[in-house]
Amino acid sequence: MPKDPTPAPACSAQSSDADQAPLCPTRRWLLERALALGALPLLASVADAAARWTNAGAVKNFALNRPRKVNLSGGQVPVFVIRTGTNKFTCFSAICTHQGTVINWSATHPTYFECPSHGSKFARTTGAVTRGPARRALPRLPVRVVSGKVQVDISSAI
Ligand code: FES
Repeated sequence: MPKDPTPAPACSAQSSDADQAPLCPTRRWLLERALALGALPLLASVADAAARWTNAGAVKNFALNRPRKVNLSGGQVPVFVIRTGTNKFTCFSAICTHQGTVINWSATHPTYFECPSHGSKFARTTGAVTRGPARRALPRLPVRVVSGKVQVDISSAI
């Protein structure tokens, strides 16, 4: 591939007119314009269309601060759903970030999740690694409550 002899110009030019698009629009500028034009609902619907909200169960089936492992998408996406308030939930992937083993939680060790393969531990409230060999925290998945049902967005988990 031939090398481009002229590099892209530096993106430092700014317009003095606030209504004019800058030569190099930033995400902030684009979001502000979308807000001004009333396009935020459209942006939200586009983002929601990309989400894959999946039912994890009825709210009443989740005990406060007690992680419950739920196998979503026909068992392909194991997650921990944790009820942290009346209608507040947190969700973590239950797949170890070291080599992909499905991890466990036990009431006898309530403060962490533990991987049975090599013993990595993850904090129950944050998913952070508290003991390796895993180095990355458990991914947190978006969760919401709709009509008394807990739903998890599994789009980032598959
Ligand atoms: S696969 Fe979980 S610690 Fe290795």
